[in-house]
Amino acid sequence: KKNTIIDQFGRVHNYLRISLTERCNLRCTYCMPEEGIQLSEKENILTHEEIIYLAKEFVHLGVNKIRLTGGEPLVKKNIEKIIRELTALPIQLGITTNGILLDKYIDLFKESGVKDLNISLDTLDKDKFTEMTRRDYFDRVMRNIYQCILAGFNIKINAVLIKGQNDNEIIDFIEFTKHNKVSFRFIEFMPFDGNKWDNSKVVSLQEILDKVSLNFGSDQLIKLEDKKNDTTKNYRIKGYEGSFGVISTVTNPFCDSCNRIRLTANGRIKNCLFSNAETNLLDPLRKGKDIGPYILEAVYPKNKSRGGMLSDKDFQDKEKNTQNRAMISIGG
Ligand code: GTP
Ligand code: 5AD
Ligand code: SF4
Repeated sequence: KKNTIIDQFGRVHNYLRISLTERCNLRCTYCMPEEGIQLSEKENILTHEEIIYLAKEFVHLGVNKIRLTGGEPLVKKNIEKIIRELTALPIQLGITTNGILLDKYIDLFKESGVKDLNISLDTLDKDKFTEMTRRDYFDRVMRNIYQCILAGFNIKINAVLIKGQNDNEIIDFIEFTKHNKVSFRFIEFMPFDGNKWDNSKVVSLQEILDKVSLNFGSDQLIKLEDKKNDTTKNYRIKGYEGSFGVISTVTNPFCDSCNRIRLTANGRIKNCLFSNAETNLLDPLRKGKDIGPYILEAVYPKNKSRGGMLSDKDFQDKEKNTQNRAMISIGG
């Protein structure tokens, strides 16, 4: 079909993730190296007007869901305008945030109709939070999470599990879902440039399920229905208000149902989280060219799985799997 973003395997792409900025008010160890990253020149970062213009081009090609990421999207200049203008489009708008600034935007989200908030929280321990994020914002993030739960948003909490760091909190995290109606998601630690990934640090879907069954009893663990194009395998402990899930890119990739395109803060399309074959939209945009064909051509050759690292052996090979940006400049 014309006006559909489709790849060589027939996967239809209707979900755009826009990274608004390469900046962040945290310094999570799994996301960026200690020394930070080389930021793009300011004039090469998409402006608020350019973001809206491009978003409309994507919507014209069938995109019906947009998620704002970063860096930290809420530190972007003009974020209010961006949210107001995007929510005026015929799409569902979600935001993935570290939670630090959420309290300032609750009213805006309510007015403009943003309902889906994915909030990162890797530990329930204040000192460990400071260790993992290299910043002291634990209390503020927790306060904001509770405030957003009370305000009735659809909340997913993301925890990247790293062996020996926070995998001893799996049961505590699940207990958090007993009285809080959130989806708590464990994410398998993924390799990106500068994040000191090693396969031995990954906590797998299977390990998590084994721990949960042992603790709660396997008859208390309910598998929830898989949603189309979802990254997450979802479960619930009987009687708990919230649910939990696992994002298992490393041990059980879900690429067959991938519907995602990424737009980076400096105006590049990535057709896969793990692909470094980027398509420059910034230049043609600023030259006044028709953008549609660039989008279609960027997505068509998309690899079958994980940017071409098809086997687990390839994906676990550090020579291959870190030939990509740092996560901070992809946005997840
Ligand atoms: P929704 O489904 O829109 O709620 O969000 P999400 O789970 O796709 O995204 P979120 O921004 O909360 O990211 C959670 C984790 O999923 C992060 O570690 C992302 O890197 C990862 N993730 C998101 N999209 C993809 C994807 O297309 N492929 C892979 N492999 N991982 C993804
Ligand atoms: N592996 C898995 N998830 C990651 N995230 C950031 N870096 C990694 C990584 N190396 C997560 C963040 C955030 C989401 C957008 O991506 O914790 O929740
Ligand atoms: Fe899609 Fe690439 Fe993620 Fe697989 S690894 S789900 S192809 S973005």
